[in-house]
Amino acid sequence: MKILRTIAATRRFRSQARGRVVLVPTMGALHAGHAALIRRARSLAGMAGSVVVSIFVNPTQFGPKEDLSRYPRPVSQDQTLCASLGADAIFHPPAGEMYRADFSTWVHEECVSGGLCGASRPGHFRGVTTVVLKLFTIVQPDVAVFGLKDFQQCAVIARMVRDLDLPVRLVFAPTVRERDGLALSSRNAFLAPEERAETPSLRRGLLAARAAFLAGEGSAAKLVRIVRGEISRSARVDYIEAVDSATLQPVRETKHGDTIALAAFFGRTRLIDNIQLR
Ligand code: PAF
Repeated sequence: MKILRTIAATRRFRSQARGRVVLVPTMGALHAGHAALIRRARSLAGMAGSVVVSIFVNPTQFGPKEDLSRYPRPVSQDQTLCASLGADAIFHPPAGEMYRADFSTWVHEECVSGGLCGASRPGHFRGVTTVVLKLFTIVQPDVAVFGLKDFQQCAVIARMVRDLDLPVRLVFAPTVRERDGLALSSRNAFLAPEERAETPSLRRGLLAARAAFLAGEGSAAKLVRIVRGEISRSARVDYIEAVDSATLQPVRETKHGDTIALAAFFGRTRLIDNIQLR
Protein backbone atom coordinates (compact mmCIF):
# COMPACT_ATOMS: atom_id res chain seq x y z
CA MET A 1 0.00 0.00 0.00
CA LYS A 2 1.37 3.41 -0.99
CA ILE A 3 1.28 6.43 1.31
CA LEU A 4 0.84 9.51 -0.85
CA ARG A 5 1.70 12.80 0.85
CA THR A 6 1.70 15.13 -2.14
CA ILE A 7 -0.67 16.04 -4.95
CA ALA A 8 2.05 15.34 -7.52
CA ALA A 9 2.64 11.80 -6.19
CA THR A 10 -1.11 11.15 -6.15
CA ARG A 11 -1.50 12.30 -9.76
CA ARG A 12 1.38 9.96 -10.73
CA PHE A 13 -0.35 7.08 -8.91
CA ARG A 14 -3.60 7.90 -10.75
CA SER A 15 -1.96 8.04 -14.16
CA GLN A 16 -0.45 4.58 -13.61
CA ALA A 17 -3.64 2.99 -12.20
CA ARG A 18 -5.32 0.31 -14.29
CA GLY A 19 -9.06 -0.30 -14.06
CA ARG A 20 -11.53 1.60 -11.92
CA VAL A 21 -10.27 3.95 -9.21
CA VAL A 22 -12.52 4.14 -6.14
CA LEU A 23 -12.03 6.84 -3.53
CA VAL A 24 -13.13 6.71 0.12
CA PRO A 25 -12.78 10.26 1.53
CA THR A 26 -12.26 10.29 5.31
CA MET A 27 -10.84 12.41 8.10
CA GLY A 28 -9.16 9.36 9.64
CA ALA A 29 -9.78 7.90 13.12
CA LEU A 30 -11.17 5.02 11.12
CA HIS A 31 -13.77 2.71 12.67
CA ALA A 32 -15.96 -0.17 11.53
CA GLY A 33 -18.16 2.26 9.58
CA HIS A 34 -15.18 3.36 7.50
CA ALA A 35 -14.09 -0.28 7.18
CA ALA A 36 -17.47 -1.05 5.58
CA LEU A 37 -16.92 1.82 3.10
CA ILE A 38 -13.43 0.56 2.22
CA ARG A 39 -14.75 -3.01 1.74
CA ARG A 40 -17.47 -1.64 -0.52
CA ALA A 41 -14.83 0.33 -2.44
CA ARG A 42 -12.70 -2.81 -2.80
CA SER A 43 -15.58 -4.74 -4.31
CA LEU A 44 -16.46 -1.83 -6.65
CA ALA A 45 -12.84 -1.58 -7.80
CA GLY A 46 -12.51 -5.32 -8.41
CA MET A 47 -9.17 -7.07 -8.70
CA ALA A 48 -7.97 -4.82 -11.52
CA GLY A 49 -8.92 -1.51 -9.97
CA SER A 50 -7.50 0.63 -7.16
CA VAL A 51 -8.89 1.78 -3.83
CA VAL A 52 -7.63 5.10 -2.51
CA VAL A 53 -8.52 6.19 1.04
CA SER A 54 -7.97 9.88 1.72
CA ILE A 55 -7.19 10.82 5.30
CA PHE A 56 -7.29 14.55 5.85
CA VAL A 57 -8.71 16.40 8.86
CA ASN A 58 -10.06 19.28 6.82
CA PRO A 59 -9.68 22.49 8.83
CA THR A 60 -12.09 24.48 6.67
CA GLN A 61 -15.13 22.45 7.69
CA PHE A 62 -14.65 23.15 11.40
CA GLY A 63 -16.08 26.29 13.00
CA PRO A 64 -13.92 28.43 15.31
CA LYS A 65 -15.47 26.86 18.42
CA GLU A 66 -15.46 23.29 17.11
CA ASP A 67 -13.23 20.33 17.86
CA LEU A 68 -10.50 20.61 15.17
CA SER A 69 -7.58 20.52 17.61
CA ARG A 70 -8.95 17.59 19.63
CA TYR A 71 -10.06 15.59 16.57
CA PRO A 72 -8.37 12.17 16.92
CA ARG A 73 -5.46 11.39 14.55
CA PRO A 74 -4.36 7.76 15.11
CA VAL A 75 -2.34 7.67 11.89
CA SER A 76 -0.50 4.35 12.16
CA GLN A 77 -3.64 2.53 13.35
CA ASP A 78 -5.51 3.94 10.34
CA GLN A 79 -2.74 2.82 7.98
CA THR A 80 -2.82 -0.71 9.39
CA LEU A 81 -6.59 -0.92 8.97
CA CYS A 82 -6.45 0.35 5.36
CA ALA A 83 -3.73 -2.16 4.49
CA SER A 84 -5.68 -5.02 6.09
CA LEU A 85 -8.75 -4.12 4.01
CA GLY A 86 -6.82 -4.15 0.75
CA ALA A 87 -6.57 -0.41 0.04
CA ASP A 88 -3.96 0.34 -2.62
CA ALA A 89 -3.07 3.83 -1.44
CA ILE A 90 -3.70 6.37 1.28
CA PHE A 91 -3.71 10.03 0.31
CA HIS A 92 -2.64 11.75 3.53
CA PRO A 93 -1.53 15.30 2.70
CA PRO A 94 -0.32 17.87 5.22
CA ALA A 95 -2.68 20.86 5.53
CA GLY A 96 -0.31 23.11 3.56
CA GLU A 97 -0.48 20.77 0.56
CA MET A 98 -4.26 21.24 0.38
CA TYR A 99 -4.51 24.91 1.37
CA ARG A 100 -1.89 27.45 0.42
CA ALA A 101 -1.55 30.38 2.83
CA ASP A 102 -3.42 32.65 0.38
CA PHE A 103 -6.08 30.07 -0.62
CA SER A 104 -9.19 31.99 -1.71
CA THR A 105 -11.44 29.82 -3.90
CA TRP A 106 -14.49 28.06 -2.45
CA VAL A 107 -17.32 25.83 -3.61
CA HIS A 108 -20.61 26.86 -2.09
CA GLU A 109 -23.77 24.81 -2.65
CA GLU A 110 -26.66 27.15 -1.93
CA CYS A 111 -29.77 25.01 -1.52
CA VAL A 112 -29.51 21.66 0.28
CA SER A 113 -26.66 22.84 2.52
CA GLY A 114 -28.73 25.62 4.13
CA GLY A 115 -30.81 23.84 6.78
CA LEU A 116 -30.16 21.11 9.38
CA CYS A 117 -26.41 20.95 10.13
CA GLY A 118 -25.83 23.83 7.70
CA ALA A 119 -27.94 26.11 9.87
CA SER A 120 -26.13 25.28 13.11
CA ARG A 121 -22.63 24.99 11.58
CA PRO A 122 -22.23 28.02 9.27
CA GLY A 123 -19.48 27.45 6.72
CA HIS A 124 -19.28 23.71 7.41
CA PHE A 125 -20.59 22.54 4.05
CA ARG A 126 -18.56 25.15 2.16
CA GLY A 127 -15.50 23.47 3.67
CA VAL A 128 -16.81 20.00 2.80
CA THR A 129 -17.67 20.77 -0.83
CA THR A 130 -14.41 22.61 -1.36
CA VAL A 131 -12.24 19.81 -0.01
CA VAL A 132 -14.26 17.06 -1.71
CA LEU A 133 -13.97 18.82 -5.07
CA LYS A 134 -10.21 19.13 -4.49
CA LEU A 135 -10.01 15.43 -3.59
CA PHE A 136 -11.92 14.60 -6.78
CA THR A 137 -9.59 16.66 -8.96
CA ILE A 138 -6.46 15.31 -7.24
CA VAL A 139 -7.38 11.59 -7.09
CA GLN A 140 -9.67 11.66 -10.16
CA PRO A 141 -11.73 8.68 -9.01
CA ASP A 142 -14.28 6.91 -11.18
CA VAL A 143 -16.36 6.22 -8.07
CA ALA A 144 -16.45 7.77 -4.58
CA VAL A 145 -18.02 6.10 -1.54
CA PHE A 146 -19.60 8.04 1.35
CA GLY A 147 -21.55 6.95 4.43
CA LEU A 148 -25.24 7.76 4.81
CA LYS A 149 -24.85 8.64 8.48
CA ASP A 150 -23.85 12.04 7.06
CA PHE A 151 -27.13 12.22 5.19
CA GLN A 152 -26.98 15.96 4.45
CA GLN A 153 -23.35 15.72 3.37
CA CYS A 154 -24.36 13.03 0.84
CA ALA A 155 -27.14 15.28 -0.51
CA VAL A 156 -24.84 18.30 -0.76
CA ILE A 157 -22.11 16.34 -2.55
CA ALA A 158 -24.65 14.77 -4.92
CA ARG A 159 -25.91 18.25 -5.79
CA MET A 160 -22.36 19.52 -6.36
CA VAL A 161 -21.52 16.56 -8.62
CA ARG A 162 -24.72 17.11 -10.60
CA ASP A 163 -24.41 20.90 -10.88
CA LEU A 164 -20.70 20.92 -11.79
CA ASP A 165 -20.94 17.86 -14.10
CA LEU A 166 -18.19 16.08 -12.24
CA PRO A 167 -17.26 12.77 -13.88
CA VAL A 168 -17.56 10.66 -10.72
CA ARG A 169 -20.18 8.13 -9.66
CA LEU A 170 -21.30 8.45 -6.05
CA VAL A 171 -22.10 5.44 -3.90
CA PHE A 172 -23.79 5.99 -0.51
CA ALA A 173 -23.42 3.15 1.97
CA PRO A 174 -25.72 2.41 4.92
CA THR A 175 -24.87 3.56 8.45
CA VAL A 176 -23.02 1.03 10.61
CA ARG A 177 -24.17 0.90 14.24
CA GLU A 178 -23.14 -0.37 17.61
CA ARG A 179 -25.34 -3.22 18.89
CA ASP A 180 -27.36 -0.73 20.95
CA GLY A 181 -28.09 1.42 17.88
CA LEU A 182 -25.55 4.23 18.23
CA ALA A 183 -24.28 5.21 14.76
CA LEU A 184 -20.51 4.74 14.49
CA SER A 185 -18.62 8.03 14.40
CA SER A 186 -15.06 9.10 15.15
CA ARG A 187 -16.59 11.53 17.67
CA ASN A 188 -18.01 8.67 19.79
CA ALA A 189 -14.52 8.39 21.29
CA PHE A 190 -15.09 11.73 23.05
CA LEU A 191 -18.11 10.48 25.01
CA ALA A 192 -17.73 9.96 28.76
CA PRO A 193 -19.19 6.59 29.87
CA GLU A 194 -22.30 8.22 31.37
CA GLU A 195 -22.87 10.19 28.13
CA ARG A 196 -22.30 7.09 26.00
CA ALA A 197 -24.95 5.25 28.04
CA GLU A 198 -27.59 7.82 26.97
CA THR A 199 -26.79 7.87 23.24
CA PRO A 200 -28.95 4.87 22.13
CA SER A 201 -31.95 7.10 22.84
CA LEU A 202 -31.30 8.81 19.48
CA ARG A 203 -31.88 5.63 17.52
CA ARG A 204 -34.80 4.65 19.79
CA GLY A 205 -36.47 7.97 19.04
CA LEU A 206 -35.99 7.62 15.29
CA LEU A 207 -37.28 4.04 15.28
CA ALA A 208 -40.33 5.06 17.34
CA ALA A 209 -41.11 7.84 14.86
CA ARG A 210 -40.75 5.51 11.90
CA ALA A 211 -43.04 2.97 13.58
CA ALA A 212 -45.63 5.72 14.13
CA PHE A 213 -45.30 6.79 10.47
CA LEU A 214 -45.78 3.22 9.29
CA ALA A 215 -48.84 2.96 11.56
CA GLY A 216 -50.37 5.96 9.79
CA GLU A 217 -49.08 9.10 11.57
CA GLY A 218 -48.14 11.63 8.89
CA SER A 219 -47.75 14.89 10.82
CA ALA A 220 -44.10 15.94 10.86
CA ALA A 221 -44.62 17.87 14.11
CA LYS A 222 -46.02 14.78 15.85
CA LEU A 223 -43.23 12.54 14.56
CA VAL A 224 -40.64 15.05 15.74
CA ARG A 225 -42.33 15.11 19.16
CA ILE A 226 -42.11 11.31 19.32
CA VAL A 227 -38.35 11.46 18.62
CA ARG A 228 -37.83 14.23 21.16
CA GLY A 229 -39.81 12.30 23.78
CA GLU A 230 -37.41 9.35 23.55
CA ILE A 231 -34.15 11.32 23.64
CA SER A 232 -32.44 11.35 27.00
CA ARG A 233 -33.13 14.49 29.08
CA SER A 234 -29.40 14.94 29.58
CA ALA A 235 -28.86 15.52 25.85
CA ARG A 236 -29.17 18.98 24.31
CA VAL A 237 -31.07 18.68 21.06
CA ASP A 238 -29.70 20.87 18.28
CA TYR A 239 -32.43 20.01 15.75
CA ILE A 240 -34.90 17.29 14.83
CA GLU A 241 -36.54 17.79 11.46
CA ALA A 242 -38.59 15.87 8.92
CA VAL A 243 -37.42 16.76 5.42
CA ASP A 244 -37.86 15.76 1.81
CA SER A 245 -34.92 13.43 1.11
CA ALA A 246 -34.00 15.04 -2.21
CA THR A 247 -34.43 18.76 -1.50
CA LEU A 248 -33.92 18.63 2.29
CA GLN A 249 -36.76 21.13 2.62
CA PRO A 250 -38.83 20.70 5.82
CA VAL A 251 -42.20 19.01 5.32
CA ARG A 252 -45.40 19.45 7.35
CA GLU A 253 -47.00 16.21 6.23
CA THR A 254 -44.54 13.36 5.72
CA LYS A 255 -44.63 10.96 2.80
CA HIS A 256 -42.94 7.67 1.99
CA GLY A 257 -39.19 8.25 1.50
CA ASP A 258 -38.89 11.43 3.59
CA THR A 259 -36.13 11.55 6.21
CA ILE A 260 -36.09 12.54 9.86
CA ALA A 261 -32.65 13.94 10.70
CA LEU A 262 -31.32 15.09 14.05
CA ALA A 263 -28.30 16.43 15.88
CA ALA A 264 -27.84 16.44 19.65
CA PHE A 265 -25.08 17.21 22.11
CA PHE A 266 -24.06 14.72 24.78
CA GLY A 267 -21.79 16.87 26.89
CA ARG A 268 -19.57 18.67 24.35
CA THR A 269 -19.94 15.95 21.74
CA ARG A 270 -22.34 16.60 18.89
CA LEU A 271 -23.84 13.48 17.31
CA ILE A 272 -26.02 13.21 14.21
CA ASP A 273 -28.34 10.49 12.98
CA ASN A 274 -31.24 10.05 10.59
CA ILE A 275 -33.87 7.58 9.44
CA GLN A 276 -35.77 7.26 6.22
CA LEU A 277 -39.54 6.84 6.49
CA ARG A 278 -40.03 3.67 4.52
O1 PAF B 1 -17.25 12.75 6.15
C1 PAF B 1 -16.07 13.14 6.33
O2 PAF B 1 -15.27 12.46 6.95
C2 PAF B 1 -15.65 14.48 5.76
O3 PAF B 1 -16.66 15.42 5.84
C3 PAF B 1 -15.09 14.39 4.34
C4 PAF B 1 -16.15 13.93 3.34
C5 PAF B 1 -13.92 13.42 4.29
C6 PAF B 1 -14.59 15.76 3.88
O4 PAF B 1 -13.59 16.24 4.71
